[in-house]
Amino acid sequence: MSNLDSLDKIVSLAKARGFIFQSSEIYGGLSAVYDYGPLGVELKRNIRDAWWKEMTRRHDNIVGVDAAIFMHPKVWEASGHVGGFNDPMIDDKQSKKRYRADMLIEQHIHKLEKKFVDDFFDFVNDSNKIKTEKYRKIIADVVSSIEEKVSQVQESYQDSSGVENEVMVSSFNQINKQLKEVDAEFPHPEKFVNQLNEIIGLYYNLLTAGSRKSLTEDLYEIIMENEIRAPESGAFDWTEVRQFNLMFKTQFGSTSTDEDGVYLRPETAQGIFVNYKNVMDTSRTTIPFGIAQTGKAFRNEVVARQFVFRMREFEQMEMQYFVKPGTDEEEYEKWLEKRLEWHKFMGIREENLRTAPHPEDKLAHYARAAADIQYKYPIGWQEVEGIHNRTDFDLTQHAEFSGKKLDYFDQKNQERFVPYVIETSVGLDRLTLMVLCDAYREEEVDGDTRTVLKMNPKLAPTQVGIFPLIKKDKLQDLAHKIEKDLREEFSVLYDDSGSIGKRYRRQDEAGTPFCVTVDFDGVESEGEDTVTIRYRDDMSQERVPVSKLAEVIRDGMKDWKPE
Ligand code: GAP
Repeated sequence: MSNLDSLDKIVSLAKARGFIFQSSEIYGGLSAVYDYGPLGVELKRNIRDAWWKEMTRRHDNIVGVDAAIFMHPKVWEASGHVGGFNDPMIDDKQSKKRYRADMLIEQHIHKLEKKFVDDFFDFVNDSNKIKTEKYRKIIADVVSSIEEKVSQVQESYQDSSGVENEVMVSSFNQINKQLKEVDAEFPHPEKFVNQLNEIIGLYYNLLTAGSRKSLTEDLYEIIMENEIRAPESGAFDWTEVRQFNLMFKTQFGSTSTDEDGVYLRPETAQGIFVNYKNVMDTSRTTIPFGIAQTGKAFRNEVVARQFVFRMREFEQMEMQYFVKPGTDEEEYEKWLEKRLEWHKFMGIREENLRTAPHPEDKLAHYARAAADIQYKYPIGWQEVEGIHNRTDFDLTQHAEFSGKKLDYFDQKNQERFVPYVIETSVGLDRLTLMVLCDAYREEEVDGDTRTVLKMNPKLAPTQVGIFPLIKKDKLQDLAHKIEKDLREEFSVLYDDSGSIGKRYRRQDEAGTPFCVTVDFDGVESEGEDTVTIRYRDDMSQERVPVSKLAEVIRDGMKDWKPE
């Protein structure tokens, strides 16, 4: 995990240093929409450029497109988004607030879990009731098992893919069994067994919602049976559960009939599918080949908290790799591994990354196999990127809805087929958040706390800070000359205000890997001018000739490794 136990410090630093601001903040903000400030825009651009270089320039068979955000409404019928891109919602009639029904049930379960743990600890701590060594031992085992499971539950339930839920349910069964053993000789634990049964039962009902009646009916029934109240108003006055489409719809053209409605794209991928034929016809590509794209996507997320992790307007970077059916499984594995390696290559610490395959019954409607690349954010393990084997679903759908042929003729083998697609899809905002979280450190330095962003120097918004020690012409002139010389190759910042210590700390918080200080010793001594270069990560300093500065910085960038 990063040094952080919540996103709060990142949110404050992001605002204070000019990385990320709430959108329309002076009007009270717009929920789940964010603006990138001067440092944020550079960081985001560097990450985007690094992705683009990796996905296109490093491959001779991957090309780019930049499709429009508006697309023909039929695209979204073909893709399944009109029919299936829904969340189950329920409204509190009293407060008129809308909640995601499954999340509401999850929150209720969390409350029960907390109560269970509190009650159990109260009971255990009442030493009068624990009479013999044997009981103490059994109880101690149960407690440590519960502690472990509760933290697993918290992690896995932050993971909306539900990947770990089965592990969690079987763990609860284990605790249940242990408690029953206690029950045999000890008069009180039925209460705990009952509490656990209720929790496990609810988890089970939630996980299997949609298998008894429809999803909406099953979720509604759980809410009713458990008398789950609205978190804010406390009322138990619900509407039915209804499916709520996540796409934003707007009017196109000057009239406003329903037929003129278009959607803001909820993913960039469809812009690639509808251009598959254009790209094939114009770029002389042969299968396997890929099309990459970066751009905005929009989703009317209902539960949109957690800063730039879940936004209503966000940026995706997607690549669709078109392959011959039969080679898809191998290509899927290859891309999953490649993409995980890229995150490490970008300097994200290995222990904070993992892959999590989706269980078969949780696959999206279009996928034959899928896995998340997850990062250990301060809010738990969460998806940063998805790798999907989308089969020929999208091209087949678009061929059917558009009436155009979207197959491929393999000249060499004289065969025709609809290509399968392996998709890599990563959120740029989530990546930016990951880079910030992984870089964040607080260190004790001379009795003070130094906040520093130890990110890959290639991604840093400012790569070199240039400081004259004091405001004297001689020092300022050389500092400006260095600024001018380095500007072509690196992103630089000239700063002559405040003490040198304060300037270093400001740049530490901005993630600037190298600071160059021009002082009298370097300018007035015999021979070539020299400056001090100060390294962000270990704060070490080195005196170097001005003529060697660019080379030293270049080497420092190349050799950088995350601590
Ligand atoms: N074309 C496939 C697709 O869109 P997805 O898992 O829905 O798949 C891919 O999204 C990536 O987009 C996610 O891994 C995540 O990084 C990013 N993403 C999705 N919804 C997001 C949101 N509301 N806010 C920020 N990023 C989001």
